[in-house]
Amino acid sequence: MSHPNEVFIANGQSHVFQFHDELNAEGQAQLKDQASAIDLAEIDRLVETLVRSNNGGNDAIAEDLEPAPFIPLPKNGGDSGQWQRARKAGEQALRDGRVAAFVVAGGQGTRLGFDAPKGTFPVTPVEKKSLFQVFAEKILAAGIEFGKPVPWFIMTSIINHDNTIAYFEKHNFFGLAADQVQFFSQGLMSAVDANGKILLADKDSIALSPDGHGGSLRALVRSGAIDKMKAAGIDTISYFQVDNPLVRCIDPEFIGFHLLANSELSSKALPKRDAGEKVGVFCEKNGESVVIEYSDMPERLASERDANGELRFRGGSIAIHIFNRDLVERLGSGNAEIALPFHLAHKKVAHIDPATGEKTEPAEPNAYKFEMFVFDALPFAENPVIIETAREDDFSPVKNAEGSDSPQTSADDQLRQFARWAKAAGIEIEADDSGLPAVKFEVSPLFADTQDRFVKKWNALSEKPAIADGTVIS
Ligand code: UTP
Repeated sequence: MSHPNEVFIANGQSHVFQFHDELNAEGQAQLKDQASAIDLAEIDRLVETLVRSNNGGNDAIAEDLEPAPFIPLPKNGGDSGQWQRARKAGEQALRDGRVAAFVVAGGQGTRLGFDAPKGTFPVTPVEKKSLFQVFAEKILAAGIEFGKPVPWFIMTSIINHDNTIAYFEKHNFFGLAADQVQFFSQGLMSAVDANGKILLADKDSIALSPDGHGGSLRALVRSGAIDKMKAAGIDTISYFQVDNPLVRCIDPEFIGFHLLANSELSSKALPKRDAGEKVGVFCEKNGESVVIEYSDMPERLASERDANGELRFRGGSIAIHIFNRDLVERLGSGNAEIALPFHLAHKKVAHIDPATGEKTEPAEPNAYKFEMFVFDALPFAENPVIIETAREDDFSPVKNAEGSDSPQTSADDQLRQFARWAKAAGIEIEADDSGLPAVKFEVSPLFADTQDRFVKKWNALSEKPAIADGTVIS
C-alpha cells in the first residue's frame, strides 16, 4: 500500500502532512495512523454531495408526508389481548436467549458538560447511581427473571473507550459477569472546512469525531460484535441510548411485537407534548416509514390537528428500537447502496491554520462534521413496527446541565415513577399535583423495574420498610 501522504496528495489533502517533518517519531506515527483510517473516497463523496451543495442531506424531505400509524397502548384504545400475546412472545425469546441489550455511548455529551463518559454520570435521586449502573441492574434483573443472562453490548468512541472499560472494571461490572459485557469503539469521521479540506486539530492529529449514533450499525459489524451475537444465537438487539435512565432496556412486550410481526426494526413512539417538542416524528413518505427530524418538520405540519383536536403528526421518536440482526448485517456491511446516509453538522472546530501553523479558535462555525442517525435505518427495514409508549415509563433523558431534560428533571421523573409504583401497591405517599413525592426514596432495579413487579414483590415482603427521605428499596 502506498504511504498515506501520497494518497492525500492525490486527493488534494496534502496539507494534512504539511507539518509532518517537524514532528517527533511518535507524532509522525500518530498522524499516519489517523490518516490511514480515513476513507478519502467517502470524504470526497460527502464533500461533493453535502458540503458543496450545502443541502445537509435533507433535500425536499418534508414533501408528501403522512403520519406513520402506531399501535396504541391498551389504556389508549389498544387491544389488550394483542399486548398480552406480545409479552408472552417476548418473554419466550428472553428465555431462549435470543436477545442482547445494546447501548450507544460514544457521544460527546457537550450539552451536559460532564468531564467523564456520560454513562458514569450520577442520576438516581438517593443513591446517585450512574446511568451505566442503572442499566446494568436492569439487565441483570432481566437475566434473573428469565433464567438466561442477557448479553450487553456497549458502543463507545475514542473519546471515552478506555475510561468506560476502567469504570466497569472498578465496579466489578455491577454484578454482571465480565464476559457478559462487550465494549467496542465506533468509527470516526474527519471534519472538513467549507472547501472540503480536512482540518488538523494539531500538527500531529486530524480533527476527528464520532460518526453519529447511526455509526453503530457499521461498528457492530466492523468490530465483530455481530459475529459474536450470531455465534451466541442472538437475533434480536434491544437498542437504547446512554442518557435515559427510565428506559426499559429489556421490554418483553416491545420484543414480542417485533418478533410476532417478523419485523426488522421496531420503534417506540411517544405522543408529543406539544407541537414544538424537539423530537423527531414518525412519518410515512412514499409508503415507507421515516423519522423526520424536528428541525426539518415544517411548522405548518408540526402543528396540524386531527378531527379529535390531537396533533396529527404526534408520534415522537425517542431512540428506543429493536433491530433484527440481519438488518444490521445488511446496513453495516459497507455496501454504499444500502448504507445509512450522512448528515451535515456545521460546528466550531479549533484547528491548525495551514498558512501560519497556529492554532485557531473560531468564533463562528467553520467546519462540517458528518454524522449518521440510527433512525435512518427505518426505510430499509422490512415490516417496521411502531408501538406507543408512555413517557413516564420510558423517557426522561439527561441532555442539558440545567432546565429541561436535565439531571433535575430526570431525578424528579424517577421519583414520580417510584411514587406511582408505591401507590399501586397501596402505600400512602404524599405527593404534589405532578405526582412528585414529598420524600426522596428510591427503588433498585434489582428489586423491581416495572410497576407489576414492584406490586408483586412488595406484597410478598414479610416486613415492609417505612418509606421516608433516603429510603432505598432493594
Ligand atoms: P446526542 O445526540 O444527545 O449527542 O446522542 P451527545 O453527543 O450525547 O450529546 P451532545 O449533543 O454533544 O450534548 C444521543 C445518544 O447517541 C449516542 C450518545 O452517546 C447518546 O447515547 N451517540 C451520539 C453515539 O454513541 N455516537 C455518536 O457519534 C453520537
